[in-house]
Formats: sequence, C-alpha cells, structure tokens
Amino acid sequence: MNILLLGSGGREHALSWKIKQSQKTEKLYIAPGNAGTAQIGINVAIAATDFPAIKQFVLQKDIHYVIVGSEEPLVKGIYDFFKNDAELTNIPVIGPSQQGAQLEGSKDFAKAFMMRHKIPTAKYLSVTKENIAQGIDFLNSLKAPYVLKADGLAAGKGVLIINDREEAIIELGKMLNGSFGKASETVVIEEFLSGIECSVFVATDGKSYKILPEAKDYKRIGEGDTGLNTGGMGAVSPVPFADETFMRKVEERIVIPTVNGLKAENVDYKGFIFIGLMNVNGSPFVIEYNCRMGDPETEVVMLRIKSDLVDIIEGIAMCKLNEKTLVFEERSAATVMLVSSGYPGNYAKGKVIMGLEQISGSIIFHAGTVEKDGNTVTGGGRVVAVSSYGNNLEEALNQSYKNAEIINFDGKYYRTDIGFDLK
Ligand SMILES: Nc1ncnc2c1ncn2[C@@H]1O[C@H](COP(=O)(O)OP(=O)(O)OP(=O)(O)O)[C@@H](O)[C@H]1O
Ligand SMILES: [Mg+2]
Repeated sequence: MNILLLGSGGREHALSWKIKQSQKTEKLYIAPGNAGTAQIGINVAIAATDFPAIKQFVLQKDIHYVIVGSEEPLVKGIYDFFKNDAELTNIPVIGPSQQGAQLEGSKDFAKAFMMRHKIPTAKYLSVTKENIAQGIDFLNSLKAPYVLKADGLAAGKGVLIINDREEAIIELGKMLNGSFGKASETVVIEEFLSGIECSVFVATDGKSYKILPEAKDYKRIGEGDTGLNTGGMGAVSPVPFADETFMRKVEERIVIPTVNGLKAENVDYKGFIFIGLMNVNGSPFVIEYNCRMGDPETEVVMLRIKSDLVDIIEGIAMCKLNEKTLVFEERSAATVMLVSSGYPGNYAKGKVIMGLEQISGSIIFHAGTVEKDGNTVTGGGRVVAVSSYGNNLEEALNQSYKNAEIINFDGKYYRTDIGFDLK
C-alpha cells in the first residue's frame, strides 16, 4: 500500500510510526510532515489544504489511501473533493465528508445532532445577534462558571470559561462582534459541567465501529491545570476511571447513537471520531466532537494499539471494520510535550535541539521541528513529545521525564505533573 498522510505535528509522527510497522505499507508519504516524519517516511512539500496539488501527487505516486491527520482539510471538504473527481473517486480518504466534519467544524451543528439522537451533553443555547436577548436570559438562568464557545474552528482557543456573569455578557457581545472572526458569529452558551475529562477515540466505516484505547490529555500550560489552554502538554493511556462500567455507558449512550445517527442522516463518515468527554459522577457527557485523532493523545494511543493500523485503515475504507480484530497493549503509555518558552503566547523558533540521539527507552515524536544546516531546530510552540511505556502510568511518566531531562534546547519547558489528578 502506498499511503499519503496529511499533517505536520506530533500526531502525524505517531501515526507514521505506527503505519510504518505494518507489513502492508510500501511507500509512506507525509504532506507536509516535519523533521521527525522525514526519518520514517518521505515528506512532501504540499500543504494539507492544497487539494489540486494533492490530486496531482496522488495520481503521480499511485497512492492507495489518503489519511487526513488534521481537521482543516476535512472541514474544507477534502473527502468530497476526492469523491466528486472522476480520477480520484476510487481512492479512499480516511476522514469524514464535509458534512460529517461539521461535528467539529460547528459546535452548534454538533449540539443539535446530539439533541436529535439523545446523546448526553451540557444544556445549551446557540446565540447570534438576532437572539442575543434570549442569550442573556439563558446566561441569567445558569450558575457560574459560564461557558461560551465560538461555533466555528478556533484552533482550540475558542472556548471561554468565565466566573462573573457581567463579564460573560460582555464577552458574549464581543464574540458576536467577531472577537473570533466568523467563527463566533454564532456562540454556543453551555451549562458548566463539573467532573473529570477524558478522550475516547472511535474508528468507524459508517456501518460498524471499533473503540480505540482511551486517553486523557492536559491542556493547560501550568502545573495543576493552571494558566492558558495549549494544544496539549501531555497525555496518558489507559485512564483509570474509564473502567469497564464507565466505558459500557460511553458505548451505549454515546458511541452507538453517534454512529447510528450519522448513518440515519446519510452522513458519509469513514474515519476517526474523537469524543471529548466529561465524567460527571460516573456518567459520561459529551463536551465536544473532533473529526480526527487528538494531539497529544495520538502519541500514547498509537503505543497502546497492538494490531496493524493499516489493517484497521483498510477495514474503514472497505467497510469491513467488523471483520477486523483490535488488540490493545496492556502496558501503560505516557507522553510529555516539550514546548518553547512563551508558548502558547509568543515564542522564538530556530533553537538547536540537543540530546535526541542519546535517548533510550522512549519514543520521540516531533511536533514542531525543522532540519537546518545539519541540526534539528525548534519550529513551533510544541516541539517534541516524549512517549514511553510502563507497567503502570507512574513508570511510563518517569521514563518520559528521565528523557525529557536529556533533551535540551534554549527555553525548553514541560509540565512535571502530567496525570496528577489520576493518582
Ligand atoms: N460545558 C462545559 N463544562 C465544563 N468545562 C467545559 C465545558 N465545555 C468545555 N469545557 C472545557 O473547555 C475545554 C475546551 O472545550 P472544547 O473541547 O469544547 O473546545 P475546543 O476548542 O474544540 O477544544 P479542542 O482543542 O480540544 O478541540 C474542554 O476541554 C473543557 O476543559
Ligand atoms: Mg475541538
């Protein structure tokens, strides 16, 4: 199989690492990739949203599968672009149709979908300038803290959680006036759910599904979950509270109604569904859907899949997922993200990364790195993820911290309390 993977982060490096382990993989190309994926496959200088260039490349290189790592090409309709093109229509794209990607692309669409299919989620109201008075009434009916979400994609920064009602009303006005651009022309106001979060990943071929290993990520920049939201500072898998009882509730109340709901509404969805959950006293509630694998969760989930990922991909593409077996790795996995100082605010790039060749007992997934003058240098806020196995979470985390100390670059920062709330 010749495979083209779209994206350039730690998620794509982890997916490449897993895809490369398959006997079925012949050529693996990554567009655009990073310095880490270049060690496993062939990076291609094409943007993940440049559909015409992707078309040329796919035909030229006889690509059998296109796996879409990030949400933007999916929300922009790459699945439909392939399906509606006579030369491309028989080449499977692993990822939902543009309509299916609305589960992530529009918080309002996702909430309405959950209402239609009785999927547990926070009480909400979608607000535009037309019904702002109703929005303020709804805010007045809620207890603090107040959750305001930009409807459209906002790079993980479109959610505000505000303790003061007056401030929330002001922020609502600012959002509707475009503080997140077009993404906040509609704002979803939600009741605050108090509990502990985790991420559940589902592979589906539109008919059946497989639940992958769950994970928990840590988004805040500061220890103890303080400070600004980032793309993710670390993750662990398995998640102790996501035991058999909890996961059965997730499957019955959320996964099955979601897959069946998409089928009932004739939404083409062959790919991954990432469900952000809140565990409220043992009951799962959907916080959000993403239409692709998570980052940094993928950097632990891939370690815990024993099966051949390309075999699963084939099952998704050929609608034969129910014939496939999915075996989990019993060991625990943890990943610690090393970031540039100043992230998620302004940060410098181009810092030489030292110590990568001295690492043992961990797998380094590159998130934001570039090859320059024979050195690997920092090329993003998130730089590398240090992933490790362990007989338990603590062991896996300690292995990652040991190697996080060995890797060095100016301004290196990482959290040392990943998994703190699971002990
Ligand atoms: N109703 C809620 N109650 C409590 N916390 C919430 C609620 N909705 C969102 N949050 C918090 O805000 C975070 C971001 O919200 P959400 O996942 O919907 O946004 P997002 O921008 O799509 O994030 P991501 O980058 O993970 O895709 C959640 O991980 C959770 O911590
Ligand atoms: Mg999201």
